[in-house]
Amino acid sequence: MKIYEEDKQFYIKAALERGTEEEQEQLKRRLDDIDWSVLEHISKKETINARGVFAPLDAVEISEIEAKEETFKEAGHQAIRAGKVGAVLLAGGQGTRLGLDKPKGTLNIGLTKDRYLFEQLILNLMEVTDETGVFVPLYVMTSNINHKDTVDFFEEHHYFGYPKEEVKFFVQEMTPACDFEGRVYMESETQPAMSPNGNGGWFGSMIKAGLLEDLHKKGVEWLDVFAVDNCLQRIADPCFIGATILSGKESGAMVVRKVAPDEKVGVLCTEDGKPSIAEYYEMTEEMATLRKENGELAYGFGVILNYLFPVKKLEEIADAHMPIHVVEKKIPYMDTEGKFVKPETPNGYKFETLVLDMVHMMDSCLPYEVVRERAFAPIKNLHGVDSLDSARELMAGCGIEL
Ligand code: UTP
Repeated sequence: MKIYEEDKQFYIKAALERGTEEEQEQLKRRLDDIDWSVLEHISKKETINARGVFAPLDAVEISEIEAKEETFKEAGHQAIRAGKVGAVLLAGGQGTRLGLDKPKGTLNIGLTKDRYLFEQLILNLMEVTDETGVFVPLYVMTSNINHKDTVDFFEEHHYFGYPKEEVKFFVQEMTPACDFEGRVYMESETQPAMSPNGNGGWFGSMIKAGLLEDLHKKGVEWLDVFAVDNCLQRIADPCFIGATILSGKESGAMVVRKVAPDEKVGVLCTEDGKPSIAEYYEMTEEMATLRKENGELAYGFGVILNYLFPVKKLEEIADAHMPIHVVEKKIPYMDTEGKFVKPETPNGYKFETLVLDMVHMMDSCLPYEVVRERAFAPIKNLHGVDSLDSARELMAGCGIEL
């Protein structure tokens, strides 16, 4: 018996019973394509991501970066001009907190004129072009849910002035979403509720899309991976790239100095001797407040989802198992009567792998400090913390007219 035929899966069963023969066939085809093993992670969710021993990891700090800026930039410029650097925009998320029914990057952050998030990111990336004379190849990850809207948006806006041939889209994988008992929801009569599988599978999805060949052809050795929702995002930043290369570390991560010991941000540290990110809820009070001799926080630098990874290592670890995070979310669904329900509070789980877990697969990582007010304006919500409002203020502080 197939998993979806078990009595337990009553949302699916009800849909199969209601559907016409044609609808049943269509639904079964989709059910057969699902990787059901993710459901096993529900019962293991407390232990699956068991952590090792954390220890602090020193960052290259702003004062040092300023002192060595010329050298770092020169090394970065060389790598970029030699075509060794590509950028990967992670834009497959659903942006549920923002409540937008279109891709997050289509958000208009302008006040007196149109300025879309995607457009702002392209403008940021073009600063590198101005500096180096090179268009850095850009790979954009979407999901089945927002792929067409994303590509259409770029087309409609003529890639915001970026050469179209330098922009390649690829689609990430989906996983089922279920209630707290592991019963997979239905999203329509013939479609089980599926959601993007997190931002950790991006390199695997690039390979599936045949883009490894493109990387090899172009001679790309480093990929700068970044989130869609930080409108001050420094993309393929020459100084960051140069500092990472010259450090001899295998990878690099942009970090910001924590403003308080209890700030809710994942910190870059080591875990059993390898680089790792400790989430704020995984830190004991002792860890969070531990100070170095100079009085600074020992676990004092938070990640902002901008990482530099070497392609060679990414290829080596492409088949490695990544931890699956079981995340509580609000999942709209059809009940057993065929009535559509839009929950106000989390009503089930989605299954995600996370790019931050990739850092732990690297032998070493350089935490590279950036000035928060210049490089970190995330938009997760419309108002309040990490919002469109706060991002607009930060942009104004940088002298960017919106
Ligand atoms: P978030 O974790 O903030 O998720 O993504 P989100 O989907 O944008 O927003 P919420 O949590 O639903 O409100 C961080 C980055 O990772 C990308 C997002 O597009 C964003 O750039 N991401 C997230 C993916 O590309 N795929 C995913 O499956 C999840």
